[in-house]
Amino acid sequence: MARIRFDQVTKRYGGVVAVDRLDLEIRDKEFLVLLGPSGCGKSTTLNMIAGLEDLSDGDLYFDDEIVNVMPPHRRDVAMVFQSYALYPHKSVRDNIAFGLKMRRLPADEIAARVGEAAERLEIAHLLDRRPHQLSGGQRQRVALGRAMVRRPAVFLMDEPLSNLDAALRITMRAEIKQLHRTMGTTFVYVTHDQAEALTLADRIVVMKDGVVQQIGTPDEIYERPRNLFVASFLGNPPINLIEGRLNRDGGGLGFQRDGATIRLSSRVAAGIAAHADRPITLGIRPEDVQDRAVQADDCVVTGAVKSVLPVGSDQYLGIAFADRELFFRIGKNFRHGLGETVTLALDPARLHWFDPATAAALEP
Ligand SMILES: Nc1ncnc2c1ncn2[C@@H]1O[C@H](COP(=O)(O)OP(=O)(O)OP(=O)(O)O)[C@@H](O)[C@H]1O
Ligand SMILES: [Mg+2]
Repeated sequence: MARIRFDQVTKRYGGVVAVDRLDLEIRDKEFLVLLGPSGCGKSTTLNMIAGLEDLSDGDLYFDDEIVNVMPPHRRDVAMVFQSYALYPHKSVRDNIAFGLKMRRLPADEIAARVGEAAERLEIAHLLDRRPHQLSGGQRQRVALGRAMVRRPAVFLMDEPLSNLDAALRITMRAEIKQLHRTMGTTFVYVTHDQAEALTLADRIVVMKDGVVQQIGTPDEIYERPRNLFVASFLGNPPINLIEGRLNRDGGGLGFQRDGATIRLSSRVAAGIAAHADRPITLGIRPEDVQDRAVQADDCVVTGAVKSVLPVGSDQYLGIAFADRELFFRIGKNFRHGLGETVTLALDPARLHWFDPATAAALEP
């Protein structure tokens, strides 16, 4: 059992507030990802769980016990770092066994646990090598093995894949996910890579400048971002964010910017009418266009094609809209040349509206 709870936790370094009044409950056996740009306080948060950093304020609980000042070795946690932190002069076997030897486990128990972890991670044939005789991916497995053999209640990982090349990173992601499934322990995983967060997490905590922006499942965070920061941090290529205004357009409402208009369906217009005649920001993810002919009561964007970027089965179309270029992902069959004016039907259920003054999402 390993529930972790932050209650109004703040961490300051001198005048820098690295983590600001964090409230967070990490559930038993959950895979929780801390996501955000460099310097937002992810590692600081993880290090407080590990006991490597003191809290400046607030309380940290493991289950129902306050652990604010509990030393690292008494916490039932194991950590995997970006740098792997392997001992260069020790064999793979001794690297994996190190923590268990320190804890004076019997030799046969150590051998059994190391053997089992090595099998699982498919590094059994490498046990007599030194770290410098391994590839990056193999070193990362050794670091994972070292954490696994301790059988901790909580697994902490700080950007464990960022030193690997893109292909290996994707393979290792799948392995870490699998590891979580079979180990049945709580994982807390730090990354600045939104794609990694979306694939791995049960829930994601998005942070910025030490402040939590949103906590939710990958779907919630991606589909219902609570503010402009979260909307723009997730998704690649990023969401199209357009500042403009809702104005009367014929009988209905249109979203306008510098004379360019996105026509809204009657249903969408009814939902957002309360925000008419004020500045508003519209967000449209590139994939949220409909791959079909435009119909009468659709939400539509019209503009000249500025760029075409093929991506395998699909293509990205850059469409001119006022002073902006909006990007949409659409099937290859949709063929239009540069400069040609096209009209695309937008997915009405997936338009995102924000208040530009507060950056907060507007409830439809
Ligand atoms: N030991 C320290 N002394 C002073 N300031 C620190 C210290 N450690 C971290 N900070 C500051 O605290 C803030 C949060 O740092 P943290 O390492 O938690 O960020 P991070 O989200 O892990 O970033 P990255 O993605 O770059 O690893 C940053 O502004 C950082 O400069
Ligand atoms: Mg960090």
